[in-house]
Amino acid sequence: MPVADKLGEVRNEISDLAQAEPTAQDLMRKMVKLLHDRMLKYNWVGFYMLEPGAKPPMLVLGAFEGAMTPHTRIPLNQGICGAAASSGQTVVVDDVSKDPRYLACSLETKSEIVVPVFKNGKVVGELDIDSHFPAAFTPEHQALVQHCAEVVGKKLETAGR
Ligand code: SME
Repeated sequence: MPVADKLGEVRNEISDLAQAEPTAQDLMRKMVKLLHDRMLKYNWVGFYMLEPGAKPPMLVLGAFEGAMTPHTRIPLNQGICGAAASSGQTVVVDDVSKDPRYLACSLETKSEIVVPVFKNGKVVGELDIDSHFPAAFTPEHQALVQHCAEVVGKKLETAGR
């Protein structure tokens, strides 16, 4: 199947999930599984959410699929994860070995994307995906992952946690 068709298909499945799941927690759990199962190069898929009221702010591991990571809590001044959450921008790293911010989760990881999740205009967490393949997150993949983060943000706004 051409890549664009596969990405379109998975995008539709994500939209269906967003309709079907009653809470953001349910949606995030099902979403990480769907992305991990369907996208062969998405080898670790997980959410980090900002701990409510934490000072200094702290990202805490939420729903994930893939090997357990040593990084269950990440301050905003650390990692690709901290960079995405503190800037409110998507971060794509084609070769993690060349990025000094990178916190290693698996020795097999070659590339990574982190997309912030916004609730009512504020960053509340992020969707982090690691790949065993270099430069896995082309602009088409970036669009899919951003769609995923958006539907979670909308669910948080309408249904709460
Ligand atoms: N690589 C991330 C840490 C999280 S693990 O990939 C699951 C980072 O550099 O922030």
